Amino acid sequence: MPFGHWVDHFERNDAVHARVDAATEFDESCIIPDHVRRPLIDSARRFQLGESGDGAQLPSKAAAAGDTEYHSAAKLFVAEEQQHAALLLRLLGYLGGQPMSSHWSDAVFVGLRRLIGLRTELMVLTVAEVVALSYYGGLTAMAPDPVVRAVAARIVDDEHAHVRFQQEWLRAGFARSALVSRVLAFSLWWCVAIGATVVVAVDHGPLLTAIGYRRLRFARDVLADFDAVARYVCRFTADGPRSMT
Ligand SMILES: [Fe+2]
Ligand SMILES: [Fe+2]
Repeated sequence: MPFGHWVDHFERNDAVHARVDAATEFDESCIIPDHVRRPLIDSARRFQLGESGDGAQLPSKAAAAGDTEYHSAAKLFVAEEQQHAALLLRLLGYLGGQPMSSHWSDAVFVGLRRLIGLRTELMVLTVAEVVALSYYGGLTAMAPDPVVRAVAARIVDDEHAHVRFQQEWLRAGFARSALVSRVLAFSLWWCVAIGATVVVAVDHGPLLTAIGYRRLRFARDVLADFDAVARYVCRFTADGPRSMT
């Protein structure tokens, strides 16, 4: 499957990033009320840690898959995730918060991905990407601050493309799988997605509540996106998810 267009996408996106990042007013003083700022710091610290490790194992696994275009695209994808971590670090500085060096949920997530092969790693990673769509999408729409909204909007644009990137490779990987294998993968994948969604909705609940994004609605939004992606990847539908295209 050709992945050259993804190399083009990530390279083109770099110019967009430079323009958007230069226009974000990180030097303004933050006047977000404390009842939002504090849970926002707690939440952004965890996402910053997660973004800094997203896909770290991917390039070596992608190289082993033997597709040079995919390998190049995977390296550019990881570079974008590193940019997200750097942006969230700047956001934490703006909010008056500090980054964290470890969190149990991140350790579980990274440890799990180290143990598994490329396809399973991408399935776990895709869950994180889909959660990120609603998380950053919610902040883009509801955060009471222009800098927070600008950072979230900048990241969620990338995350939409990341989900498409992952689902293309995964769908191709299931092309020759029997129906029973796809049903099994789909079911196990759903378990991971539900578990991750519940953990994020609870763990980041104070922030979701502070910005007026009900946890239940957040969970429903994440799982609706996930359902569309999982059906497409496991070849239960021919068309890509509408919200992702
Ligand atoms: Fe990201
Ligand atoms: Fe991503």
